[in-house]
Amino acid sequence: MRRAVCPGSFDPVTNGHLDIIGRASRLFDEVIVGVLINQSKSGLFSVEERIDMLREVTASYGNVRVESFRGLLVDFCRAQRATVLIKGLRAVSDFDYELQMAQMNIGLAGVETLFMPTNPLYSFLSSSLVKDVAKWGGDVTPHVPDVVRAALKARLVPPST
Ligand code: PNS
Repeated sequence: MRRAVCPGSFDPVTNGHLDIIGRASRLFDEVIVGVLINQSKSGLFSVEERIDMLREVTASYGNVRVESFRGLLVDFCRAQRATVLIKGLRAVSDFDYELQMAQMNIGLAGVETLFMPTNPLYSFLSSSLVKDVAKWGGDVTPHVPDVVRAALKARLVPPST
């Protein structure tokens, strides 16, 4: 069985993430979305909340599993018996750091990284931008699934100006 891992923070999942996960799910037998547990950085959403949202929005794909991990990504890949990582590239600016991580990961454990060009519709999109727009009351409807839009609305009260 060909398994791939789509790793990230997903705080929260955006339509850009979903585009990559969905396309990966058509190329592999199983896709495991790996949500990083980062003890040194507290997110807007807890890891459990991120996982719940990811599970809801990927359920229709049928071959996507969502799990959390801590520590090295290559150890998570090994535990999941996946030999391939899928990373989305939004722009050339993403490439520098992604290349370093890909080379480190193949050196550490022989885990391959495949880069997938992001759909141009989402090339400017990031979880951080979405949170900032939502914080100030902007419309994030085109950028995130409905469940995420509702969760952002419930979590973020626009600061008084
Ligand atoms: O969505 P993000 O925050 O850009 O995802 C970054 C992620 C999770 C892919 C990266 O931080 C990662 O792989 N972290 C796990 C720790 C690790 O393996 N570090 C060495 C990478 S070469």
